[in-house]
Amino acid sequence: MKGAIIYFSGTGNTRYVAEQFKKHFEYYNIQCDLIDIRNKNAIEDIYDYYVFGAPIYAEMMPKYFTDWVKINVPFVKGKRALIFSTPASTVGTGAFKLRKLLNSKGFNVISQNTISMPNNYYVVAFKKSSIEENKEIYSEAESKVKKIVKDFMEGRSSIEHISRSRVALGSFVYKFFNAYSKTWAKKNISVDYDKCIKCGKCEKSCPTGNIKLIEKVEFENKCISCQGCLHICPVNAFMYKGTHFEQYKILK
Ligand SMILES: Cc1cc2nc3c(=O)[nH]c(=O)nc-3n(C[C@H](O)[C@H](O)[C@H](O)COP(=O)(O)O)c2cc1C
Repeated sequence: MKGAIIYFSGTGNTRYVAEQFKKHFEYYNIQCDLIDIRNKNAIEDIYDYYVFGAPIYAEMMPKYFTDWVKINVPFVKGKRALIFSTPASTVGTGAFKLRKLLNSKGFNVISQNTISMPNNYYVVAFKKSSIEENKEIYSEAESKVKKIVKDFMEGRSSIEHISRSRVALGSFVYKFFNAYSKTWAKKNISVDYDKCIKCGKCEKSCPTGNIKLIEKVEFENKCISCQGCLHICPVNAFMYKGTHFEQYKILK
């Protein structure tokens, strides 16, 4: 038996949860391919099980992720699928839309759940959690993954309930967020050239090719606000509105 774990992760939380899914599926002798959508163009229908995971931005899964799924995931006949989202809160509203999309591609989505992870957006909103809090969050995440995989393997459906009004509000807010995001880095992020070593990690890691490093770091108008560049920089050279900040590094 083989599974595909297809995910997008800006700062590592969703990758961490995807790795937990792989580990727990392997207890059931399901070999899983971990598929980071940044490195893959099309999925072949060669798997028995499919897992889809992404963070939540302004209540929804990033359009970047759902668009990728729309284009690159094939139509299947009733393959079982599991969806997870990794918001900082406890509700993954946007997973609802992905479920609809996957159902329309012939998947039998029997699991849709939120795995809460640390907030990676604290440079802009809400606070940064402490290392102790993060350790607890990672451990709760792993326990939740273990239970979700058990239910999935035993054929029990676990679909998180999300109210219609919440979905409607989320979809409405996300439209504004998505438009605002495109120029977010260009308008808010600058580089401290006393620190920058021009290693190009930010440019390479940007999922949409929004960063160009020639003499200086330049942003185009296709940012998705994932925060990846800010936290991957090895010398913490980025500034938000002219001020330095503490980076988010996921503990392993
Ligand atoms: C632009 C942006 C918007 C976010 N909006 C929400 C949100 O509406 N609700 C929430 O619970 N978390 C929100 N978050 C937090 C992330 O979903 C969370 O930290 C996630 O685990 C990050 O995953 P990653 O490290 O795989 O990118 C937001 C993060 C970003 C970058």
